[in-house]
Amino acid sequence: MKTVAILISGQGSNMASLVRASRDERWPARIAAVIANRAQAPGLDVARELDVPVDVVPHAAHGGRDAFDAALAARLEALGADLVVLAGFMRILTEGFVRRFAGRLVNIHPSLLPAFPGLDTHARALAAGVRVHGATVHLVTPTLDHGPILAQAAVPVLDGDDAATLAARVLAAEHRIFPMAVRWLLEDRVRVVGERAEIDGVPACDRLLWEGAR
Ligand code: GRF
Repeated sequence: MKTVAILISGQGSNMASLVRASRDERWPARIAAVIANRAQAPGLDVARELDVPVDVVPHAAHGGRDAFDAALAARLEALGADLVVLAGFMRILTEGFVRRFAGRLVNIHPSLLPAFPGLDTHARALAAGVRVHGATVHLVTPTLDHGPILAQAAVPVLDGDDAATLAARVLAAEHRIFPMAVRWLLEDRVRVVGERAEIDGVPACDRLLWEGAR
């Protein structure tokens, strides 16, 4: 059994999709904790309802990124985390932290990377006039929203979309690809070759999911 920690900052819908999939599909893993960087994160209540242990490492109580990341790393090491899942975790991690957890740190980002790294991806996609948008699951490197891609889902941008309707369409796709990719990691099916990931020896980019209009 592998030990998984999920880090959140917000509502925790991706976290909930991971917990449910881990149980429904009987993953070879235990979700040992959901950790938030602020006590008010609504996802903490979702985790409690799902009977997952919760913890808070408040970034505001630590003086600067290095101190926060050191506290977070200590908590994760104490748990014995084999995999650290960033599920809507809205803190930039230091290079030292990322290197310490290299290969066992995975993130979901609400765009088709490398387009639209950073914040406000849905509004920026609409402003840019793209017709295809989506989400990306990737291993984390020290560069923000960058690293070997494990899975992507593409969704259409529809006439009349605003940032909220587009975000909802992308989020539904996130809930499909994130559990899939996390499970691949837990089953040791991912290898990084150069800058790219392979799943069972097949380039991950061959597994792009087209969600179509839903
Ligand atoms: C998701 O869109 C995720 O990709 C982004 O923040 C959102 C978090 O949603 N990083 P939730 O907290 O998982 O519901």
